[in-house]
Order: sequence, then structure tokens, then C-alpha cells
Amino acid sequence: METSYTIRKFVPNDLQAIMQVNRVCLPENYTDFFFIDLHQRYPETFILAEENSKYLGYIMCRIEIGLSNLGLGGLTRKGHIVSIAVMPQARRKGVAQAVINQALEGMKYYKAKQAFLEVRVTNEPAISLYKKLDFEISRTINGYYSDGEDAYVMTKKLDPKP
Ligand code: ACO
Ligand code: ZN
Repeated sequence: METSYTIRKFVPNDLQAIMQVNRVCLPENYTDFFFIDLHQRYPETFILAEENSKYLGYIMCRIEIGLSNLGLGGLTRKGHIVSIAVMPQARRKGVAQAVINQALEGMKYYKAKQAFLEVRVTNEPAISLYKKLDFEISRTINGYYSDGEDAYVMTKKLDPKP
């Protein structure tokens, strides 16, 4: 299949355009400081897709240390997908899969052993996407979102780099 978009790391010059993609696609929005701080700390997991210098989508993540929800024992490094979105006109072309796969490689670079995220329990496109990438629902957080909706926590084990 023909894919014409480019996957690359975020640079600070992309900030306003990526904040606009976030505002168009999601009700969860953030300050410019929040985006820049995640980029400064975890540049390998802040990835975007573009086509003919138009922005199609992004993913941004952070690395956290906490209890494994996969029976990995004790404290583990986990890659947290904080936000991912693809512009409406660019959907179902594999853009989300491509940016997630690149971010998962970045998480492995940071020595994370698993990846996780929260997703609205009614967000069927996103839940289907994560299931396709072998994330599994590990629990529900009641009232996680500011409008009261519940979240699933979805988790995936990361195989170490060969
Ligand atoms: N319905 C059913 N399955 C879907 C859908 C859908 N609408 N969209 C994606 N999928 C599944 C399919 O299995 C698809 O494979 P296929 O096209 O071969 O059938 C697979 O996911 C891969 O899809 P992509 O093309 O890579 O996904 P896309 O680039 O369209 O982006 C996304 C998916 C990010 C969920 C997009 O719809 C979006 O931006 N939605 C609004 C923002 C959002 O909900 N973000 C996630 C919030 S949770 C968080 O950020 C942690
Ligand atoms: Zn989160």
C-alpha cells in the first residue's frame, strides 16, 4: 500500500501545529509548557506524522516508575502514552499505528518494560487500535475524565531490544 507521510521526532518548532491537532481531536488539552516539558524529558517518544508539510498526527509519552500490572514483579519502568491523535481527514491510513510503533521503540530505548495508557470506555476507534497492537484492558478507573466518564487502563508488555 502506498504511504506518503513521514514519521519523525517532534522539534520545538512544531509546537503550535501539534497543539492545534490536539485541540481539533481531543477534549483533553494542555499548556505549551506541558508539551515542551514532555519533549525535553522524553524526546524519543514524542513523534509526529506529516505529509507535504501538513501535520497529520502526534503521540507524546512519559516514562514512569511504578508497580507492574503485568506480574513483572516490584517496581518497573513503564512508558505512559499521555496523548495521541490523528486529524480526521488522515484517519484509517495507519498513521496512529506508525507513531505508536515508533514511540514503543523510544520507550525501549528508555528501558521501559511495559507500555500503558488510559482511554475513554466509549472510545471504540482508539480501543480497537490498541487491541490491534496487543494492548489489553487491565482495569477501569471510575470517573477518570473531567466529565465523569470512566477510563480503561490498557497495557502491553515490551520485548527488550534484540
Ligand atoms: N473503528 C474501528 N477500528 C479502528 C478505527 C475505527 N474508527 N480507527 C482505528 N481502528 C483500528 C483498526 O483496527 C485499524 O486498522 P485497519 O484500518 O487496518 O482496520 C487500526 O486501529 C489502526 O488504525 P490507524 O489508521 O493507525 O488509526 P488512525 O490513524 O485512524 O488513528 C485514532 C486512530 C488515534 C484513535 C484517531 O481515530 C483519533 O485521533 N481519534 C480522536 C482522538 C483520540 O481518541 N485519541 C486517543 C485518546 S486515548 C489517549 O490519547 C491515550
Ligand atoms: Zn494517562
